[in-house]
Amino acid sequence: GKRYVVTGAASGIGQAVAELLLKAGAEVHSLDRNTPTAPVTRHIEVDLADPASIATALDTLGGGYDGLLNVAGVPGTAPSSTVFAVNTLAARTLAEAFLERLNTGGSVVIVSSTAGFGWPQRLPQIREFLATDTFEEGAQWFADHPQEGNTYNFSKECTTVFVHAMGLVFNELGLRINAVLPGPVDTPILEDFRETMGADTIDGLAGLLGRHATAGDIAEVVAFLASDAARWVNGEAINVDGGVSGAVLSGSV
Ligand code: NAI
Repeated sequence: GKRYVVTGAASGIGQAVAELLLKAGAEVHSLDRNTPTAPVTRHIEVDLADPASIATALDTLGGGYDGLLNVAGVPGTAPSSTVFAVNTLAARTLAEAFLERLNTGGSVVIVSSTAGFGWPQRLPQIREFLATDTFEEGAQWFADHPQEGNTYNFSKECTTVFVHAMGLVFNELGLRINAVLPGPVDTPILEDFRETMGADTIDGLAGLLGRHATAGDIAEVVAFLASDAARWVNGEAINVDGGVSGAVLSGSV
């Protein structure tokens, strides 16, 4: 059977991903700060805001996996250094560590967000950040370059560009990396988004679509990208938002 590592498996989208994979007969190795309440093959406690904790978890994990599904993330209600650390630095560190931990044909899938859609406007800064080599250097770059506006959005912009930039690096080793960009999903984090982005914005989208996404709506696409059926999808970021991004970008709403 396939062997996967899932971060954020203790809640929301990550939990739904873990359930799908287990149902398909795969092993699920969970990395989260909280212990999952649903069954997993193995749980390793980690603080993804802390590079030392990530290094310890990687030692415990070892190699020979078919996928890293990096779902964990924090909302903009957390301190901005934590938001950048978990959503961007940990995602990059783990993805790079899995270049040598994945079996041939394996892949990384990172859950970023439609909130990162503005990355083309900030590409020069983002490329400057991506030129840093380590978690610590990236954290220092972020501390030295206070970003205008919303750190959550910026953290997801960086993560989406990282994925686009890494496709060919993964391909060289017979591996893939992709991102899933959800719109609002009905999980515990949504209450934080109502606080930071406004309940009108968040629930207005549900008004437009008839409902918010379920964790399962997102998990299906994560699992697809990690499967062999997506073998020629690489360095890609896929909006999974019921159609809102397409409507906004085409100027139809
Ligand atoms: P959630 O809050 O239900 O789950 C997040 C998980 O990440 C939790 O299990 C939590 O313990 C874990 N986590 C957070 N900080 C951690 C840390 N420092 N160390 C280890 N684990 C940590 O949220 P949800 O909705 O499942 O979010 C998953 C991903 O989806 C996040 O990256 C989020 O930014 C993204 N997303 C969510 C949307 C939504 O509306 N729910 C919309 C767009 C993106």
